[in-house]
Amino acid sequence: MASSSSNRQGSISSVQTENRTFSPSDEFSKKAHIPSAKKLESIRKKAAKNPVEFWEKQAESLEWFRRWNIAFKWKHPVAEWFGGGKINISYNCLDRHLNTWRRNKAALIWEGEPDGEIRTFTYSQLHHEVCKCAGVLRSLGVKKSDVVAIYMGMVPEAVIAMLACARIGATHNVVFGGFSAEALRERINDSKAVMLITQDGAFRRGTAVNLKQAADAALEHCPSIKHSLVLRRTGGEVTMKAGRDHWWHDLMRGATSNIAAEPLGSEHPHFILYTSGSTGKPKGILHTTGGYLAHVAYTTKTVFDIKDDDLYFCTADIGWVTGHSYIVYGPLANGASVLMYEGAPNFPEPDRFWDIIERHKVTIFYTAPTAIRAFIRWGDGYPLKHDLSSLRLIGTVGEPINPEAWMWYRTMIGKNKCPIVDTWWQTETGGIMIAPVPGATDTKPGSATFALPGILADVVRKDGTSCEPNEGGLLVVKHPWPGMARTIFGDKERYKETYWSNFPPTKEHQGWYFTGDGARKDTDGYFWIMGRVDDVVNVSGHRLGTAEVESALVSHPYVAEAAVVAKPDELKGNALVAFVTLKANITAGDLNKLKEELRNHVGVEIGHIAKPDEIRFTEGLPKTRSGKIMRRLLREIVAGGVISGDTTTLEDFSVLEKLRGDEE
Ligand code: PRX
Repeated sequence: MASSSSNRQGSISSVQTENRTFSPSDEFSKKAHIPSAKKLESIRKKAAKNPVEFWEKQAESLEWFRRWNIAFKWKHPVAEWFGGGKINISYNCLDRHLNTWRRNKAALIWEGEPDGEIRTFTYSQLHHEVCKCAGVLRSLGVKKSDVVAIYMGMVPEAVIAMLACARIGATHNVVFGGFSAEALRERINDSKAVMLITQDGAFRRGTAVNLKQAADAALEHCPSIKHSLVLRRTGGEVTMKAGRDHWWHDLMRGATSNIAAEPLGSEHPHFILYTSGSTGKPKGILHTTGGYLAHVAYTTKTVFDIKDDDLYFCTADIGWVTGHSYIVYGPLANGASVLMYEGAPNFPEPDRFWDIIERHKVTIFYTAPTAIRAFIRWGDGYPLKHDLSSLRLIGTVGEPINPEAWMWYRTMIGKNKCPIVDTWWQTETGGIMIAPVPGATDTKPGSATFALPGILADVVRKDGTSCEPNEGGLLVVKHPWPGMARTIFGDKERYKETYWSNFPPTKEHQGWYFTGDGARKDTDGYFWIMGRVDDVVNVSGHRLGTAEVESALVSHPYVAEAAVVAKPDELKGNALVAFVTLKANITAGDLNKLKEELRNHVGVEIGHIAKPDEIRFTEGLPKTRSGKIMRRLLREIVAGGVISGDTTTLEDFSVLEKLRGDEE
């Protein structure tokens, strides 16, 4: 969709043009929270003049135990929002609704994978469960500011555990259930978690994934963990370690529900969530309390136009930031009804989502481009079999959506009547940053449209000057916003270096946030995201640092060096290709067997999602004179074998020739 050669410093050339536009229907706009482009423009203009005042207004829609006295404090790159304020996220997501008619409204409707079991929690019921779980955490010695790791599948108890942590001021660290024992161990140790909440197994595509076994393996080397709480879900065999492991149902049975929500400082650490960066070590992105909630509550209301009679279904996993911000915190803060589904979209058949939408009468559906590409491949027959007329709004997140997939989504799922909200944001941004406001914005297929009110995004060159229309450049945010990450847990230098060093403060501004993404704005000012400019790639909507995969490969005893690059893939967005050199004393024998072994090794080290799609053995890797692997060349090789661009810094040309030779 875009290439990355440039002649102007820092600019990236883009080859995509798209002229179709789609306006929301009058019927949709009339009922929307923001009903017209004119209204949106006036909000945006006012917010741009004074973003702090704008966000203060949004924060006022939350319930604070004590109002803030300093709305915003900035000491590059450390932000404080709503300083002096006291607030509790679990209170805002639950207790607040209990004094209203919503107390008996469905907060969470959950559907299990294997037999379609349905469990519904009203706001009162969810509140009760969360209070009990908070009581259990306290009884196991968890205190305010302790870190609690959560390694679960898509079960209501994962939501309950997160809200229970928030209730007592413990910081949760949710680790995606698809990660391996090794990845879990690393994330527990880096965050110094005192407790782990997990389950025996999770259902996924008809089989039970044994989470407890992986947790046991991880906990062998996690000295900070004192207790683990284990939910019984699959009924599979597990070993319980006396004194450490406790059954969820045993402790919940006798737990007190008399646990008041703890008033927490606005900057209290709410959660840590690990995400990939361009080095081998995942980054523990830290989010705090008041600002985060203000951001996700406002964006849920504005972008999903959420109303009391909606049923909102987000297909993300709870282990990713989308699950945090737009399954749990944003929707519940708005008193919405959330549908949560446990399993795979193609179990038992590839129409499971459409079946869920039809049976539950879902009105808002939020998914990822990689899923949409899979739906397209599975065929129109599956959505056509179902009545999807309850839908009124559909959304995407996670990677650029190509215009054809966007059009398919619009016609086949949205039946040409639902606005599409293509939402650009990141783990680090906490909430949505660039997206259409559905009753107000004309959409273009493949564009996330404009920055939301209060978000000052731009596309700039390396020297900080703004790009011309259609000139590709670096996507930056020019003013801090309340949901932004506050630091990388335990590594504030890396935080500064990664996000705030490209555009440090000058006489004119206080420093800009660099997203790591390339983008362009078209002549109408629409943003077109072009993907990552660093060594981070998007595979099936999951962000992976290629360096992380490389270090997993190098940890195999046969491997000397590895370089991992992405290759465009129709289904997954990107596929991973690993170039591997073997240690000198190794005679590998059956190379195909070794390839499989290495792929599985990465599966064990990181998780299934990170397994390279292709492994190529080579005698050497192309390097610069200073020893840096030239991944750009490898990318060009996997993309088709044509080497363009400058190669004068290459150390060993014969290596390059060999790699090309291997290709042919
Ligand atoms: O490259 C962008 C891409 O996903 C990255 C963020 O990944 P992660 O932190 O895992 O969060 C994913 C869910 C918010 C971004 O830097 N990305 C995300 N949404 C979009 C996108 N690229 C294009 N369009 C989007 N709507």
